[in-house]
Amino acid sequence: MRVELQQISKTFGRVRANQDISLTFEEGHIYAVLGENGAGKSTLMKIMSGYQAADSGHVVVDGQSLELRAPTDAIEHGIGMLYQDPLDFPPFTVLENFIAGRPGGVFPDMEAARQHFLELTERFGFALDPDRYVDMLTIGERQQLEILRLLSLGVRVLILDEPTTGISAEQKQALFNVLKSLAHDEQMTIILVSHKLEDVIELCDHAYVLRRGRFVGEKEIPCPIPQLVELMFGKVIERKEVPRVSVGAPVLEVENLALSSHRLTVENLSLTVHEGEVIGLAGLDGSGQGAFIRSISGLFPPMRGTIRVDGRDMTRASYHDFAAAGVAFLPAGRLEEGLIAGMTLTEHFALTLPSRAPWVNWVRAWRVTQERIQHFNVKGRPNSPIQTLSGGNQQRFALALLPDNLRLLLLEHPTRGLDVESANYIWEQLLARREQGTAIIFISAELDEIVAYSDRVMVFFGGQTTLVEDRAQMTVGHLGELIGGRM
Ligand SMILES: Nc1ncnc2c1ncn2[C@@H]1O[C@H](COP(=O)(O)OP(=O)(O)OP(=O)(O)O)[C@@H](O)[C@H]1O
Ligand SMILES: [Mg+2]
Repeated sequence: MRVELQQISKTFGRVRANQDISLTFEEGHIYAVLGENGAGKSTLMKIMSGYQAADSGHVVVDGQSLELRAPTDAIEHGIGMLYQDPLDFPPFTVLENFIAGRPGGVFPDMEAARQHFLELTERFGFALDPDRYVDMLTIGERQQLEILRLLSLGVRVLILDEPTTGISAEQKQALFNVLKSLAHDEQMTIILVSHKLEDVIELCDHAYVLRRGRFVGEKEIPCPIPQLVELMFGKVIERKEVPRVSVGAPVLEVENLALSSHRLTVENLSLTVHEGEVIGLAGLDGSGQGAFIRSISGLFPPMRGTIRVDGRDMTRASYHDFAAAGVAFLPAGRLEEGLIAGMTLTEHFALTLPSRAPWVNWVRAWRVTQERIQHFNVKGRPNSPIQTLSGGNQQRFALALLPDNLRLLLLEHPTRGLDVESANYIWEQLLARREQGTAIIFISAELDEIVAYSDRVMVFFGGQTTLVEDRAQMTVGHLGELIGGRM
């Protein structure tokens, strides 16, 4: 099977998301589609998978031009896609979700479906319980489910849009093994959209690069990462040295905190964070770091222990009390927790700007939005609905919404989905806040990000925490061992 994109163009209002793009995908290969945030990668992949129609151009399979009106049309021709934001049906079980979209009518043969599902999970080494509810699954598990569903529908070309954001290292290895086997043993075509160039080098054998909606070049892999970066941005980009600042008075004091959720219990967590300090939280997904960061933002009350902010007891205070004390939290699930789909950028500012008046000052909200969009280099306009921004631009915008002069800034995966240049930029902005005395605590799945930016690191494993304070111990290798419970 050979898929060709022929002269694909797509505009959204004034934005030229894809301009005259032609690419060829051969079977048995793993391709990378690369480019900066907003380059047009997701748009192109959505066109290829029938989720969006091109303004002009063709998707051609084995010489035949396809008429794609919906994702089901593409699946019928063997093209399936895993979207950047998962599109499943949370109130259903794994098995119910698995059979969604399949022929067989309203009463499918559940037993046969279950058997088929179990065979597939066995074959690919995915540990998925068919009777769990999808909203209880981690992002990595939801993704495994969607891959199995697409495979069971007979897909031969599998497109994955940033599949490794938000999954654990183990889940990533399992995923990569499956993708390699699908390409090399079963001659399928795999297309990966990713900002993690290490992943691209590990998995792919060919890269296509887009810049501002146009195809700008391709590379055989393996090749040096800086060459890919240069092709993506048109220039060489380096990570800057992080200046260390001297820390000030304690901002956050946590003593003997105990947290309990349905998944796990974390005990005896103590931590003092000072003005100007950056603390990285490391651990496998669901090891308690998410519960901790929510407990110190007033979203998740602790069972025991005390939380003080600037000396004041805030142990069971509400989210609003924490906000009033200068604590802000930026969660990871951009469109789920942080931003509100359907609202424009200006409406987001109108909601978050502090105001004593009972009405919204739209003129001010509009002005601030314009300033912030410019300052944070967000590709979008004040009246763009948030969901029309590219993934990376949503993240930039979420950061742009944060108020100045915070005491404590809590971030969950602050650079997830960002291209290299944007990630560097975001960290410059965050580190600049230290000058105002802001303390920063952030969760990241990228150990090199934790090592690069943290003054100290707290590692979560099996309900326990380990504080790494010595910079000599702060290496990707050592942290990796702590995360996996090996010391
Ligand atoms: N539904 C839409 N309405 C309006 N504009 C859109 C829509 N979808 C995408 N765009 C715009 O098209 C451009 C390309 O977006 P796209 O999502 O394809 O980028 P991307 O390369 O996937 O970026 P990222 O790495 O940030 O995910 C962006 O400027 C984006 O704002
Ligand atoms: Mg995208």
